[in-house]
Amino acid sequence: MTRNAVLITGASSGIGAASVRRMAARGWTVYAAARRLDRLAALERANVHPLPLDLTDDASICAAVDDLASDGGVSAIVNNAGYGSYGAVEDVPLAEARRQFEVNLFGAARLIQLALPQLRRAERPRIVNISSVGGRIHEPFGAWYHATKFALEGFSDCLRMELKPFGIDVCVVQPGGIRTEWGGIARDSLLASSGTGVYAPWARRHAGMLDNTQAAGWLSDPDVIARAIEQALTARHPRTRYATGAGARPLLLLRSLLSDRLFDAMMWRGSQAQRNSGFDLWPATAPSPLPQP
Ligand SMILES: NC(=O)c1ccc[n+]([C@@H]2O[C@H](COP(=O)([O-])OP(=O)(O)OC[C@H]3O[C@@H](n4cnc5c(N)ncnc54)[C@H](OP(=O)(O)O)[C@@H]3O)[C@@H](O)[C@H]2O)c1
Repeated sequence: MTRNAVLITGASSGIGAASVRRMAARGWTVYAAARRLDRLAALERANVHPLPLDLTDDASICAAVDDLASDGGVSAIVNNAGYGSYGAVEDVPLAEARRQFEVNLFGAARLIQLALPQLRRAERPRIVNISSVGGRIHEPFGAWYHATKFALEGFSDCLRMELKPFGIDVCVVQPGGIRTEWGGIARDSLLASSGTGVYAPWARRHAGMLDNTQAAGWLSDPDVIARAIEQALTARHPRTRYATGAGARPLLLLRSLLSDRLFDAMMWRGSQAQRNSGFDLWPATAPSPLPQP
């Protein structure tokens, strides 16, 4: 198969939507997948095909891959869909932790399993997994999110070696701080899980940090990551990792230079240093919107 056709998950927002626009403008056939089809409709043009996909639902993943196969197959997959489930480990229901893994790791893994026969037939096949700088660094109240991204990093390294005999390249993209819906979702989940209870004083400050980060104006535009994804998809010899976006490289450098305890101290200070956080907007009695065990 010679055509350039890519499936991009998480296409209804942020990095995914920017990547759909960029690759479509480059003439690629793009399958734009997500749950919110109304958002995907806004991306539609001759070479963009909306695809309903819920990564927590195996039947939905199978149906999406079947659709791709009947349309001629894809030469690349960008596993971008994901969200940040935040909260103290003691507070987050394991059902929510499992859902976090379903979306950020197992859903991507299942897509890869099912689509590999299509990729094997392609001319320059690629898998691009959107991890995070959070796949290499850690912060308080982000245990489940970081666990999924650390896992995706190791998963991608093993996969890259397994798929080398077939000429299928596997790349990891590690965004830093990007202006999308991600921060608001992470903040809300943190406050829902730990906005009350014994972790509340620290969790609320961390939520304030997430808020202030969104408001600060130094986050990168999603197209910065879309550009890295384009490089991973089109370079003759792609890099194994692309770290880019606000703060990504400095944070990775600091992680490699500092001891665990020094890095903990730096991240804790950043987490707790917020004064004007806005977290008081969250009512202390708000019920958790997350599924309960
Ligand atoms: N923004 C950042 O600062 C940042 C930094 C590092 C890494 N990242 C990573 O970048 C990726 C894209 O995030 P973003 O920043 O663009 O966030 P975003 O604007 O919130 O977009 C997330 C996308 O994931 C999709 N999604 C969520 N749950 C899903 C499910 N169950 N099934 C299918 N799709 C699902 C959403 O679509 P629907 O809700 O319509 O299904 C949406 O299109 C994520 O993997 C994130 O972890 C982001």
